[in-house]
Amino acid sequence: MDFPSELSRQVTRVDRGLDQLLPPAATPPARLHEAMRYSLQAGGKRLRPVLVLATARLFGAKDDAALPAAVAIECLHTYSLIHDDLPCMDNDDLRRGRPTAHRQFDEATALLAGDALLTHAFALLAEGYAAQPALANALTRELADAAGSRRLIGGQMADLLAEKKPSTPAELEFIHLNKTAAMIEAALVLGGLVGGADPAAVAALRQAGRHLGLAFQIIDDVLDATADSATLGKTAGKDATAGKTTFVRLHGLETARRLAREHSDAALAALRGLPGNPAFLLALAESMAGRSR
Ligand code: IPE
Ligand code: IPE
Ligand code: MG
Ligand code: MG
Ligand code: MG
Repeated sequence: MDFPSELSRQVTRVDRGLDQLLPPAATPPARLHEAMRYSLQAGGKRLRPVLVLATARLFGAKDDAALPAAVAIECLHTYSLIHDDLPCMDNDDLRRGRPTAHRQFDEATALLAGDALLTHAFALLAEGYAAQPALANALTRELADAAGSRRLIGGQMADLLAEKKPSTPAELEFIHLNKTAAMIEAALVLGGLVGGADPAAVAALRQAGRHLGLAFQIIDDVLDATADSATLGKTAGKDATAGKTTFVRLHGLETARRLAREHSDAALAALRGLPGNPAFLLALAESMAGRSR
């Protein structure tokens, strides 16, 4: 398998899916639909939707069966970034190499575009899997749990609270597990569900997602402290300025890198236990572990 060309093929499928499954930019009110597309189409690595497609394929899903779920998770992720960047949260000016949504439009439009992307994610599941009600239900529950107050939103709340007082290592792990790992875990599980994975395989996917997601956010913390804004497409160095509790702040760079590697290895081990040939998923997980943006 030629990993880079397979990855770019999958990213292209996601980009086409996004274009097809989002309301056209001219849909009234055009300003709102333009803002939704602006943030989504700025690019981004598309890791979560590609994880959905790759996992579904591993379990034998037909070619486009996983596309609505893949687009749904990218809509949900992008909403979380738009809101994460708002002045009331991380107050960021740059995202995916462009001005953040509230800078390009205004705060209210950014807030509403995020709301609309969140809602659209669930509409995509309802419409995309209407012919398989049990699957639609399982996908909805999975995404709702991952995006809800115990996970993504809970992690974001804890992240903001941690700006005010220093966190313990256990509290920081709670933040990373929920604000970030929840969505990575959900990506693998959504793909597994579309492919008809059995409960044991879903449990292995959850385990892999947990470690892959923790590694992903630890690396995000490391890159914030070490990379430049042009490479990242978002403002570097902002965690220290905002007084965020991160793995770098709590453990130092070297230990943070080691912990990321350990979680990546644990994820790879869980993926290796999956049935079939997970070569693409393994290569994707390895590329996430070694990423520079
Ligand atoms: C950014 O996620 C937010 C985190 C959870 C660290 P990504 O690094 O996947 O962002 P995009 O989608 O590529 O822009
Ligand atoms: C964001 O964590 C996680 C979510 C958006 C849910 P960060 O605040 O570290 O993400 P970046 O660095 O702004 O992408
Ligand atoms: Mg944040
Ligand atoms: Mg942020
Ligand atoms: Mg960050």
